[in-house]
Amino acid sequence: MTNLALFASGSGSNYEAIQRYVTEGKIAANIRLVVTDRVDAFVIQRAKKYDIPVLALSPKAFETKEAYEQAILAELKKYDIDWLILAGYMRLIGPVLLGAYADHIVNIHPSLLPSFPGKDAIGQALAHGVKVTGVTVHYVDEGMDTGRIIQQRAVEVVEGDREQTEAAIHAMEHILYPEVLQNLFNS
Ligand code: GAR
Repeated sequence: MTNLALFASGSGSNYEAIQRYVTEGKIAANIRLVVTDRVDAFVIQRAKKYDIPVLALSPKAFETKEAYEQAILAELKKYDIDWLILAGYMRLIGPVLLGAYADHIVNIHPSLLPSFPGKDAIGQALAHGVKVTGVTVHYVDEGMDTGRIIQQRAVEVVEGDREQTEAAIHAMEHILYPEVLQNLFNS
């Protein structure tokens, strides 16, 4: 079966949505490792609940981004990881991981790309006054949210209400990401 590493920087609600599908046997893959760049990220608590090993490395502890990614890569090899699943990992993937996992890295982004790439996509959408935004799952390349799009879903903006818009986007993410992974791995 395919071995996955989930990458997250924060709450990890997308990680947990995917983990539930995997635990219930609905995605034909194993989550072998959770990787985070923040040693205090809540995703660590979530992974513990499911007995999934966590690699928590602060990039600041390394002299270069290359050294940081080499340390991650060494661990990915130990766990025989086939695919990297980015779920709220707030860092650009560098040449070390891109080289090792070409076409085997996917990401979720809270907008209809190519609109609103980068940070605070929901804030960008609200600031522009768009009426419809959404969620995109895409392959990762060297750019910022520029890789080939796999799947998208629209979400209506709740005007002037960031909290409700965010909740609607998260709810959509928790359905869309597991679905995409089913399509990728359940053949
Ligand atoms: C999600 O909304 C995800 O789309 C976004 O971070 C959030 C993480 O939530 N990712 C990006 O903005 C990437 N550019 P979570 O930690 O609860 O899964």
